[in-house]
Amino acid sequence: MAGYEICYIYVHSVEVARSEIFLNRQPRQFQSRLFELPEPPLFAKRTQGGEATSDVLVSAHVGGNAEIFPRILELHVPKGSKIADITWGQGVFWKNVPDGMYDVHGTDLKTGVDCRKLPYKDGSFDCIVFDPPYMEGFFRREKSHLGGSGTHSAFRKAYSNGAETPEGGPKWHAAVVSLYVEGGREAARVLRKDGIFIVKCQDEVSANRQWLTHVEIINEYAKTGFYARDLFVVVRPNQPGVSRLIKQVHARKNHSYFLVFQKAGAVRKTPPAP
Ligand SMILES: C[S@@+](CC[C@H](N)C(=O)[O-])C[C@H]1O[C@@H](n2cnc3c(N)ncnc32)[C@H](O)[C@@H]1O
Repeated sequence: MAGYEICYIYVHSVEVARSEIFLNRQPRQFQSRLFELPEPPLFAKRTQGGEATSDVLVSAHVGGNAEIFPRILELHVPKGSKIADITWGQGVFWKNVPDGMYDVHGTDLKTGVDCRKLPYKDGSFDCIVFDPPYMEGFFRREKSHLGGSGTHSAFRKAYSNGAETPEGGPKWHAAVVSLYVEGGREAARVLRKDGIFIVKCQDEVSANRQWLTHVEIINEYAKTGFYARDLFVVVRPNQPGVSRLIKQVHARKNHSYFLVFQKAGAVRKTPPAP
């Protein structure tokens, strides 16, 4: 007899003996109930509550903002929350969010409200949504030099306020990041403690350099006390076209991000000098 068979018989008989001792100690009524119990599966899986499902929100999504945005809200912002969308634009994000699900306040520079100076009290919102112009082409000193001119004017209308950037401020990609930083500071002011800050952005190549805008934003916001709680990648379903390509240097961007931040609960104070 092979070693493993002897071993099996030994273990089996010990188990039987053990269960007989156990059963003999039980009241008769309980003994019959024990025999009716179904066999446990051979390799019983240990579960700790919850249920198995594949219906979960994943971090990468092929499609448009209007499809993914309601699902991000569903995951991170409780129904009935007071939300300010401070770069409303054409309200595309809200197209598939049912009316009345949230208390939504939309503003934009086009409607006379600068995201850097919001007309709201400190700590008065549960959530802020922020989607400023994400590429340096929308920050030019002259209107005729703004990205999306001519046949692309509809694109410009949707993504920027169409105004020139005043002299003296940051230029090119720095102007993009600067608006994110200043808008983020104002969002931190009007958000309540633990409030959610949803930010849309896209990386860009500017002046022949690769700028990972989402990384810059995450690092800058960490200084303001925002914790990067989640990140979603949105991939365009169609192939982007390029006019006047001489030699490709960087991958053409066909993805953008929704970053979800949470305002830190308590502000850590620097201990006094000894
Ligand atoms: C990318 S679009 C926003 C699109 C919007 N999320 C939607 O769903 O339609 C950027 C918007 O930021 C606005 N904007 C630019 N500078 C601003 C500022 N300083 N304060 C507020 N809004 C600004 C533009 O007018 C434009 O509507």
